[in-house]
Amino acid sequence: MRRPFIAGNWKMNLRRQSAVDLAAAVAAASGEFGEVDVAVCPPSTYLASVADAVSGSPVAVGAQNMYHETDGAFTGELSAAMLLDVGCRCVVLGHSERRHVLGESNQEVNAKVLAALTAGLTPIVCVGETLAQREAEQTTDVVAEQFYGSLAGVNADQAVATVIAYEPVWAIGTGKVASPDQAEAVHSDLRKILQNQYNAEVADQIRIQYGGSVKPANARDLLSQPNIDGALVGGASLEPDSFLGIIQAA
Ligand code: PGA
Repeated sequence: MRRPFIAGNWKMNLRRQSAVDLAAAVAAASGEFGEVDVAVCPPSTYLASVADAVSGSPVAVGAQNMYHETDGAFTGELSAAMLLDVGCRCVVLGHSERRHVLGESNQEVNAKVLAALTAGLTPIVCVGETLAQREAEQTTDVVAEQFYGSLAGVNADQAVATVIAYEPVWAIGTGKVASPDQAEAVHSDLRKILQNQYNAEVADQIRIQYGGSVKPANARDLLSQPNIDGALVGGASLEPDSFLGIIQAA
């Protein structure tokens, strides 16, 4: 049985005090999470303050990116060890905004995934097609290519410590959510890919989140699909009520 995992990706939003207040509100409600794992991913500058705000609660803190090297002359970058140092337990990698706005390649995502796993940080690896790719019926191929490219060299033990997030680019921040059937079709393809790449037992343990305009009103239908094991939530994770509503649905 896979434990549902709801993560809030705050992107480049909030300021220190609003981030701390939001994190504290999520932590305060953690008595009602039941069997759901929860993480919040603030901007890097607020990671330490947010980690303080949720300390002692089961809420995990995640980063939104990292660099694959461990130390050295990489101006502006942060390593996995640095993220662990300020209380991070997971890191979002290969988010579509990093792939499409900042030009991150599968090879770069792959190097980061391997570095995160080596350091003991849970990677949340994002894959997803654009609207043009969906309309050209390339969804399966695009998602498979991103999966194989981003997880190259990840062994079975590391795979079970990895979280995949299927985020159709056309559904991110647009209010256009994938229908539960559309999302489940891709999640079930991903589960088959995991089975081929590893084996049925490993594939069965790996959590696959859905992301893209998840709200309290649509969360239950999405999360009740057999292969949807949680959500990566952007906009709706910026308010305690909507984020907690999604956790409640899970
Ligand atoms: P959204 O973002 O929920 O605002 O669509 C999801 C994401 O980018 O992870």
